This record gives sequence, C-alpha cells and structure tokens, in this order.
Amino acid sequence: MWLPTISFVALVTASAQAALPLPPFLTKCTTREPAALNACATENARRAVAAIAATGDRKYGVAPFDPAFIEKLTVEENGFFLEFSNMTISTLPRGSWHIDSVDLNLDNRYIHFRYSTPTLVLKSNYRIQGRILLVHLKGSGDCEVRYENYSASNTVFFDVVKNDQDGLRYVKLKNTILDANVTKSTYKFNNLFQGQETLNKAVLEIANQNWKEIYEDTKESTEEAFGQFVTSVLQSVFNLVPYEDVFPQ
Ligand SMILES: *[C@@H]1O[C@H](CO)[C@@H](O)[C@H](O)[C@H]1NC(C)=O
Ligand SMILES: *[C@@H]1O[C@H](CO)[C@@H](O)[C@H](O)[C@H]1NC(C)=O
Ligand SMILES: *[C@@H]1O[C@H](CO)[C@@H](O)[C@H](O)[C@H]1NC(C)=O
Repeated sequence: MWLPTISFVALVTASAQAALPLPPFLTKCTTREPAALNACATENARRAVAAIAATGDRKYGVAPFDPAFIEKLTVEENGFFLEFSNMTISTLPRGSWHIDSVDLNLDNRYIHFRYSTPTLVLKSNYRIQGRILLVHLKGSGDCEVRYENYSASNTVFFDVVKNDQDGLRYVKLKNTILDANVTKSTYKFNNLFQGQETLNKAVLEIANQNWKEIYEDTKESTEEAFGQFVTSVLQSVFNLVPYEDVFPQ
C-alpha cells in the first residue's frame, strides 16, 4: 500500500457570524420515528445539494463543492511524494451529485449517506517523485483522473457541543468512514518524465490497462482525502445551524 498520509487544505470561505436563521434549503425534522426522520434528512440533503453545490452560500460560509476547489493535497510515504495543487473536482454531467439515501441515527450520533454520480472528474496540477509499479517517476505537469459510476457509502460520526457564546448546541463532526466504488478509472498525467513523451504514453497505457489495481492501491488515501473534504463541507453547514433548529428533540 502506497500513499497513506495526507495533508490536506480545502479552501472554505470564512464563516459568518453565529446563529443565522435556518437557510431556506433546510427544514426542521420534527419526528424521531426512524423512517420519517430519514425521509426528512434525505429531503434536506437533496435540497441543500441542489441549492448550494454549484455556488456555495456566502452568507452561511459554505464553499461551492461541485466543482470543488482544493488548493493543495499532499501524499508522502517512504520517499514517495505526490502533490496536487489547484485541484478541481466536478461531476459529469455538471451538477449530478445524487443523494441516494441518508440514515440519521440521533441516539448513536452518526449520519450515513449514500451518494453517487455518473462521472467524477478530478483536474489538477501535480508534482511527483517516487516509484509506481516498478517505474521511477519524477515529473510535474497537469493531470486528469476520471471515475465512472462513482458510488459512495459515507458514515460521519458527530458530537453535539454547546457553544459558550450563544448557549446553543451545535453538531461537531468527528471521524468519517468513506467507501467508494467505481466501474472504471482513467489516469492522464502529462509530463510524467520531464518531456519523455513516448515513455509517458507507454506508462499511462499500462496504468490504464491496470486501472483496477491502481484504483485499489490509491483507494484508502483518496477515500481519506475525499472524506475530509466532505466533512469540511458538512461542518461548514452545521456550524451555523443550532442542533435544535434542524433536529427533533
Ligand atoms: C494555482 O493557481 C493560481 C491562480 O491561478 C496560480 O497563481 C498558482 O501559481 C497556481 N499554483 C500552482 C502550484 O499551480
Ligand atoms: C463496494 O463494493 C464492495 C464489494 O463489492 C461492496 O461490499 C460495497 O458495499 C460497495 N460499496 C459501495 C459504496 O457501493
Ligand atoms: C456505468 O454504469 C452503467 C449502469 O450500470 C453501465 O451501463 C455503464 O457501462 C457503466 N459505465 C462504465 C464506464 O463502466
């Protein structure tokens, strides 16, 4: 397994002052009956994605997330170094994040989401140094990674924490577990060998023939990075909505 550690910087707009009224895309769920509560949570998630994915919400301090912009993402291990910068992540067709389901467990304090998109496209600048599939790489340039039929199962655990300033309780997200499957991944990295085009092409061809192996090898670290990103988006929404305003007592 290569690529285990990640330092991650997401660009989230500065959050506004505390305790704004509930944003128009959220409605309070009033029941604790599980099926009705999950239906309410799913409806909220779908409306939020429709309302803010492309534009974010400046008033609530939520950055856009389709496309998402990630300033820098670094992976380093045992002499292997890979850095992405100015990365955008978008769905194809545009705006096609689909919330398949939301399970909200208030007693055990977790939210389980399933979401999917026909194609997830990651475009970025990169720098790489190290070995993949026995090949020594040292290069930098632009790259594009595509995931077809991206489907994620994502559990986010949370605490409910009282804010001393306004005396209200807020959702504070803790760890996240993400599992994502694809039916194909495609890798395009320009200038992998500092201008040796023929070698670059040959290595990419091998990589794309062996996409499944590469997907599996990078699964843990991409899920970790993506999980952190999703958490930062969700937290920015929860930061400004007191627990009592969205969840049943
Ligand atoms: C990222 O984009 C900004 C703005 O376009 C540019 O100034 C900067 O050089 C880019 N950074 C990298 C590492 O490509
Ligand atoms: C991914 O595939 C594995 C193995 O088929 C399956 O157990 C898991 O539920 C799938 N996860 C998602 C999110 O589809
Ligand atoms: C994506 O899933 C659909 C429906 O299951 C399938 O027909 C299609 O071939 C898949 N796309 C790729 C690129 O694997």
